Amino acid sequence: MSISFLLNGEEVRLSDASPITTLLDWLRENRHLTGTKEGCNEGDCGACTVMVTDARGSHPLNACILFLPQLDGAQVTTVEGISAPDGTLHPVQETMISHHGSQCGFCTPGFVVSMAAAHLADETDHDTALAGNLCRCTGYAPIIRAARAAEGAPVPAHLRDLRAHLPGRGPAPTAYAQPENSGALAKAYAETPEATLIAGATDVGLWVTKQFRDLGPVIFLNQCADLRGIVEADTHWRIGAMATVAEVERTLAPHFPSLGKMLRRYGSAQVRAAATLGGNIANGSPIGDGSPAMIALGATLHLRHGDTRRTIPLEEFFITYGKQDRAPGEFVEAIEVPKQPDTLHCYKLSKRFDQDISAVCGCLNLPVEAGTYGDVRLAFGGMAGTPARATNAETALRGQPVTEATVRAAMAALAQDFTPLSDMRASAAYRLQTAQNMLLRAFHAGQGTATDVTEVAP
Ligand SMILES: Cc1cc2nc3c(=O)[nH]c(=O)nc-3n(C[C@H](O)[C@H](O)[C@H](O)COP(=O)(O)OP(=O)(O)OC[C@H]3O[C@@H](n4cnc5c(N)ncnc54)[C@H](O)[C@@H]3O)c2cc1C
Ligand code: FES
Ligand code: FES
Repeated sequence: MSISFLLNGEEVRLSDASPITTLLDWLRENRHLTGTKEGCNEGDCGACTVMVTDARGSHPLNACILFLPQLDGAQVTTVEGISAPDGTLHPVQETMISHHGSQCGFCTPGFVVSMAAAHLADETDHDTALAGNLCRCTGYAPIIRAARAAEGAPVPAHLRDLRAHLPGRGPAPTAYAQPENSGALAKAYAETPEATLIAGATDVGLWVTKQFRDLGPVIFLNQCADLRGIVEADTHWRIGAMATVAEVERTLAPHFPSLGKMLRRYGSAQVRAAATLGGNIANGSPIGDGSPAMIALGATLHLRHGDTRRTIPLEEFFITYGKQDRAPGEFVEAIEVPKQPDTLHCYKLSKRFDQDISAVCGCLNLPVEAGTYGDVRLAFGGMAGTPARATNAETALRGQPVTEATVRAAMAALAQDFTPLSDMRASAAYRLQTAQNMLLRAFHAGQGTATDVTEVAP
């Protein structure tokens, strides 16, 4: 036995599945559970949403970019398991009918599962909960009305006590590695440095479903319990590499509301529940949202190879486009964020408000001491081949009075920091101007003169 999980309450044991079979393909082709739909096959549309219950609780996930070993020890509830075994509909199914929330019906199972997961969590911000589900014919108003109408209805008995499935692990798999702690991971990766590490698979999943890549040897990180979670100490938070973006949002948003506001626009509920901060940093993407925020907060990166550990300032990890300071067999163990007063402003600029990749992500940490700028840290995504600090603009601010003239000087200096690219998301000129304007906007937010009344002013 290699993989064991509960599927709609029934135990499944798999010994022969390819480790890169997606849950979506397996559900539809092996189990003929065709309620779970394939739309985009890249995590964008939510048609394949299932509810997964593990040690962290129950959350909606996109089955199209979930590999079977990621479910080991979990409980999976598909749309077929949302209604009761006797066929009684879930409250969200009833309200979808009574509020005319479905036309062609293709998106409906995915919506129903996301709505049931939100209902289970008493989530009433339905725009946020459903931002990862796309519907091309009904329009969202009836669906949101249906979600609202189901608020407060009792959770059906069969979903009340969903728990992770902890069957006791069987023999180690032979087709892939799935270490149970970071020590075993360090050993396995040092022995097979050419292996692909798989954390939340929100990047790696697409290499398989869109690029049809053969990944070669793979190592799944999801059983490494000691890489999960966030530990709060007196001086810092230690974020395990396997902590999800949703967990980072929950922990840090109360301390840095502007970061919380930005992370709420990171992918969708389904993506945030799967994507890890470790994976977001390790992939080195110049347009990821996690790295600029962490660099602005002065985070350090903890790397491990075998029994050797080292710690570097996060910004030093990114060498050039596609190249990070990571040796073969070395992995991200944790990210450490120092505690500090909140002076952070995060801005994510993208074409769509929800579920879009940043054209520019600006994270500006602007401490002020006695009317002058202190040790400021300005970090940007989308402005260079890597996430990077704007050192000239920082110098223009440090030790200078907090005035618009100072900020305008820093905006001019920012042009020396970056030579951004033009691509389908934005032109170079647009990127530079909007990044400069983020500085001005943060200044006005700090002065209480921002025109956007929803701006979070630390
Ligand atoms: C629909 C959709 C929307 C998205 N929206 C956003 C967004 O708004 N903002 C954003 O920033 N990103 C976004 N992403 C990108 C993605 O969510 C992130 O890059 C994600 O955080 C990667 O984490 P993961 O755990 O899924 O990594 P994986 O896909 O498992 O791995 C990513 C890479 O990191 C490596 N890796 C993973 N963990 C480690 C480790 N501990 N040590 C060393 N290497 C490791 C893997 O080998 C791989 O190369 C989106 C993705 C999708 C599919
Ligand atoms: S099929 Fe679109 S998110 Fe999975
Ligand atoms: S009802 Fe047709 S896509 Fe939503």
